Amino acid sequence: MQEKANIGINRFQLNRLSQDLHHDSLIEDVQTGLSDPPRSLPPKYFYDERGSKLFDQICQTDEYYLTRAESSLLENHADEIVSTVRPTAIVEYGSGTSEKTEILIKAANQHHDWLHYLPLDVCEEILIESAERLIERYPWLSIDAWHGDFLHDMQQFENTHERSLYTFLGSSLGNFSYDQATRFLSDVRNTASDNDWFLLGVDMVKDQRILNAAYNDGNGYTAAFNLNVLNVLNRALDGDFDTASFEHHAFFDADRSRVEMRLRSRCQQTVTLRGIDLKLDFENDEHIVTEYSRKYTADSIQQLLKKAGFTPLNIYTGSKNEFMLILSRCST
Ligand code: AVJ
Repeated sequence: MQEKANIGINRFQLNRLSQDLHHDSLIEDVQTGLSDPPRSLPPKYFYDERGSKLFDQICQTDEYYLTRAESSLLENHADEIVSTVRPTAIVEYGSGTSEKTEILIKAANQHHDWLHYLPLDVCEEILIESAERLIERYPWLSIDAWHGDFLHDMQQFENTHERSLYTFLGSSLGNFSYDQATRFLSDVRNTASDNDWFLLGVDMVKDQRILNAAYNDGNGYTAAFNLNVLNVLNRALDGDFDTASFEHHAFFDADRSRVEMRLRSRCQQTVTLRGIDLKLDFENDEHIVTEYSRKYTADSIQQLLKKAGFTPLNIYTGSKNEFMLILSRCST
């Protein structure tokens, strides 16, 4: 099924999980999510080129602690993790720039003189760029990259390596609803073999002020990131969203243990998406939910992992209890 593109470097291969990635699902998501209140959009559309750059800028703000906290946990525990697992391959869902995974990749070389890295991502440019960087740095690494939407096309993915370490970092699991998270984790479990391992990174419940600040940074990068999704819709569907007439709103909902991010209409207005012949009427103050970022406790994440068939073994939180890495066995 998959088409293999040879980029001309022997240690790098690119596979496609699906063609024409976003277009069909974007139309469907807009029609079902935006047509009537309560309106919502899946967060995956944030990440066009500008959105990905804004996300990188968010990660460098003082307020957004998540990326720094996770990197420091990886720096501190990579050796222990790879000596427990001794992986011959590392599989990563949503690999992005692979910067955090690089910490594990480097550490894994202590135990084997060859490592396979299997990154999966929706962005082909980032997959290629990151692979080229890693291939050049590590002569003992080979990369089998998978371009596609791993939520939909997981069945096509193949991994023949033994003792693989599957990873899902960056608290991306937090974007999923409880059902989606359970389904995704079960899919990972079914893709993996009994001898494989799973490393999950998720954000933790904490003081609301810290959470609210993390999603309302003073430089306004999060606001720009949120509003940028309207540009994505304008471009894809020939729309006339005016980003100045919407505003960013993000807050921690303690009852549901999640940050909710919204775009709120500053006035009564009609938006037209000519590409799909859709008119949207917004009341003043009416909003679109653009993202949930769920925050976990050690208990809540272990329950979820067990439900999906994993055996959580070690939890690393560091001294600040900001962020968690959970290392699980795939066998029960
Ligand atoms: C990449 C999904 C983990 O939810 O914290 C950052 C995205 N949204 N600021 C998160 C995000 C607003 C981020 N994840």
